[in-house]
Amino acid sequence: MKIIFATGNENKLREIREIMGDLTEEILSMKEAGVAADPEENGSSFEENAAIKATACAELATGKYAEDVVVMADDSGLEIDALGGEPGIYSARYLGHDTSYDEKNRIILERLKDVPEEDRGARFVCAVAAVVLPAGKPAAEAGEPLITRETMEGRIAHEIAGANGFGYDPIFLLPEYGRTSAEISPDEKNAISHRGKALRAMREKLREELA
Ligand code: IMP
Repeated sequence: MKIIFATGNENKLREIREIMGDLTEEILSMKEAGVAADPEENGSSFEENAAIKATACAELATGKYAEDVVVMADDSGLEIDALGGEPGIYSARYLGHDTSYDEKNRIILERLKDVPEEDRGARFVCAVAAVVLPAGKPAAEAGEPLITRETMEGRIAHEIAGANGFGYDPIFLLPEYGRTSAEISPDEKNAISHRGKALRAMREKLREELA
């Protein structure tokens, strides 16, 4: 069995290879698999957007391989309670694609400057979708994508802190660590992150599905 993951992001691929490695050693990026799906992510939830990406990639992968193929994609973002759940599914494009994360993080802290501690709740969310393509069958005959969704709960900090991670990590405070998710190590983060948890949940779903 092969897994194709609909991403070009090397960090995600490394994490996926670590987590999914005991299902199969053959885990390919879209580029390695020679499929280049770039669908419009116009769903209204993380789950829908992950399913759109996995389905588009599965259509292109159909018929390419003799063995069973699982085509996976993820979609993730940050929900801030005091901003009514923003930036949510718009996390990557929030405040403009060309605005740096340093700038985005400063703007968010400014918007939340009068928000008391108890109202600063936030979470990272990740949905993972997987389309199982049985050998020799077209994508149209694959069932609905399997979906998992997990969160990492925290609070918006008062200051930017930490140089690990990416995106909104420097303003995301993990109360049980007393540090932001940019201040903990990558291994510590993978163990508790929304993406790590959603990928591990998908690994178990796939184990059942393929048994
Ligand atoms: P995507 O799922 O790769 O499209 O990521 C969506 C966006 O959500 C990223 O560009 C980041 O802005 C944000 N995001 C998702 N996960 C994380 C995380 O673990 N740390 C920081 N930002 C994240």
